[in-house]
Amino acid sequence: MKKNSPLYGVKPEVLKSPAYTLRAYEAEVKLNQNENPFDFPEDLKEETFRRYKERRWSVYPDFVPDSLRFSLAKFTGWHKDGVLVGNGSNELLQAALMVMVGKGSQVAIPYPTFTVYKLIANILGAKVVGIPLNPDMTYNVDELVSKANESRARVIVVNNPNNPTGSVLNKEGILQLLEKFSGFVLLDEAYYEFCGCSGFEFLERYPRLIITRTFSKAMGMAGLRVGYLLAHPDLATQISKAKLPYNVNQFSLTAAEVALENLERFQPAIQSILEERERLGKELNGIPGIRVYPTQANFFLVEIPVEPRTIFDDLYRHGILIRDVSSYPMLSKCLRISVGKREENDRLISALRTGLENAGAGAVHGTL
Ligand SMILES: Cc1ncc(COP(=O)(O)O)c(C=O)c1O
Repeated sequence: MKKNSPLYGVKPEVLKSPAYTLRAYEAEVKLNQNENPFDFPEDLKEETFRRYKERRWSVYPDFVPDSLRFSLAKFTGWHKDGVLVGNGSNELLQAALMVMVGKGSQVAIPYPTFTVYKLIANILGAKVVGIPLNPDMTYNVDELVSKANESRARVIVVNNPNNPTGSVLNKEGILQLLEKFSGFVLLDEAYYEFCGCSGFEFLERYPRLIITRTFSKAMGMAGLRVGYLLAHPDLATQISKAKLPYNVNQFSLTAAEVALENLERFQPAIQSILEERERLGKELNGIPGIRVYPTQANFFLVEIPVEPRTIFDDLYRHGILIRDVSSYPMLSKCLRISVGKREENDRLISALRTGLENAGAGAVHGTL
């Protein structure tokens, strides 16, 4: 590269990495980002504004948001010194990987999964050892352990339940990873509230386990960017070195506090999403030509017998936005659909049925 190029000196691993982008589509029915279709409760917004208004905006937020860490420690049952708060869980995933891996180290990541892990690992100069899920999108724990050990991976990153497949690694699977792999296990539990399955109970016994969670999904706070990390306090201290000071703004910290003080207020939305997930799953299964993968998250992965882009475009013309995941490995025939409100799901089902009929997708592929 020429010395006068604006890119001269940019790390080769960065130049090689594709950027994480998502085209900003607008649609009446937004089922593309696994967001909560129910907004943060109005009165809790008011309470957040009220508390925030009382604060001086000219002063920095807490260097370490101690009061939120304390609330999270109480909520989770974990040691306060083992709790970190981040600007979304993405930031904490990045901080954790920054302190664990660098040029030349290996990171074991099952695929298909959330692409941000690979992006961060690449930027850090680490090598990603990809381990495919089984063809039915379940985790292949034996393979994961053996490939991670073989490659001397520093860390295994597992998303549970997994985006975009909805697959779950059960407790025995998590335990097997912790028992048979001697590196770090970074468990991303962004969707755990929809699943109930967590590696939390293993934190005390396995100090190499790190769990990240978020306020973006079940708590309806994606726009405010708050996530948290649970790990052994000594490890959390090291990870905190990779976070920027004042990383979470005071408004978001206040909203998270208000949310934690009013947890029961989020239950009806979660319950509704779970009920709609059940109903939507049945309805999707009833559409000829579709294969619906089992899910324990707030979204479905579906495989269709026609070009996914055709159906994506067709739904978009009808005001419905879903996620075309056909560029992911193993998912060339797949779309991802978030669970919305009842009326949104009804619109999706009807448009999808018609879209597939029009595209000539008649053959029943069956369901799993
Ligand atoms: C698996 C997974 N992890 C992490 C995140 C990021 O969450 P946050 O909004 O907390 O950064 C997402 C967001 O979609 C996700 O799907």
